[in-house]
Amino acid sequence: ADALKIGIAGLGTVGASLARILQTRADALTVSCGRAISIAAVSARDRSRDRGIDLSGIEWFATPMELAEKADIDVFVELIGGAEGAADQSVRVALSRGLHVVTANKALLARHGVELAKMAEDKGVLLNYEAAVAGGIPVIKTLRESLTGNQFSRIYGIMNGTCNYILTRMEKEGLSFAECLTEAQRLGYAEADPSFDIDGNDTAHKLSILTTLAFGSQIAADDIYLEGISNISIDDIHAARDLGYRIKLLGVAQKTATGIEQRVHPTMVPLDSVIAQVDGVTNAVALESDILGELLMVGPGAGGNATASAVLGDITDIAKSRPGAQKVPVLGRPAHLLEPYVQAE
Ligand code: HSE
Repeated sequence: ADALKIGIAGLGTVGASLARILQTRADALTVSCGRAISIAAVSARDRSRDRGIDLSGIEWFATPMELAEKADIDVFVELIGGAEGAADQSVRVALSRGLHVVTANKALLARHGVELAKMAEDKGVLLNYEAAVAGGIPVIKTLRESLTGNQFSRIYGIMNGTCNYILTRMEKEGLSFAECLTEAQRLGYAEADPSFDIDGNDTAHKLSILTTLAFGSQIAADDIYLEGISNISIDDIHAARDLGYRIKLLGVAQKTATGIEQRVHPTMVPLDSVIAQVDGVTNAVALESDILGELLMVGPGAGGNATASAVLGDITDIAKSRPGAQKVPVLGRPAHLLEPYVQAE
């Protein structure tokens, strides 16, 4: 079969990790997918920076928009971030050209996911976004494919690696909030604007995507009670521990008699619970459903390789897909069949 040609928009932490993995694992990936995956084009602001990638023979575009419009590719991989602007516009252009799209952009999906899903489904292309929620944990595939048919009662978890990293190091090493945040930024965990992490917006974006997949409703990122971790002090953390608890930033969505309740806030979890043991940049997502019961997935939640692993899985899914075969609905069910979001009273 012909090689699958991909274009990567954005060579930051995740984009550079992805490119390195695609180049160093090329032979094994070809065997697994039955065809080669080739990086045909990239876009990034700075061409000269050394990223440990061989860029020879790869077409270079100055902007994501030009890449989406002009590159000779099968898949547009969006790794620039942001709900509006370049990410939004370039993904729309790529879908309207009939390209498959892979994105790690939770803010974009939380804002425009239903519309983008409709576009992809109308065009008969795939829109994959495993890396958008809980980094490397394969929770999108689990909800979208593996658990089809289950009815969910509750989903909750630690979905922001930066916040969990900060809370963990404050407790275990007595470092200040600011020191921990700087370190999380240095390690490539934090958002470009880290207030999205610490104010809980990033968790809310991810939660709203999981809510849609679990409950079949429209995405409602604005109907989420939101409280971040910026007011948590070391004294709070120690006081919680003395009472037998650890403080975690949780996102919780549950079905009630009147609708769906979604909230994001610091939560006291019992020290002997599994979720209390989830440390550092690790994330955890609990899914409670009627056929399976409770599933808890724990794993790397942010950073170059963890996120690139999820993006790679999305790309290899496309490489393995066959023309004309039934596509997995982007949001778990066809976008035009999503139910209106009804907030719990
Ligand atoms: N800033 C995010 C986090 C990156 O810390 O979890 C992964 O989505």
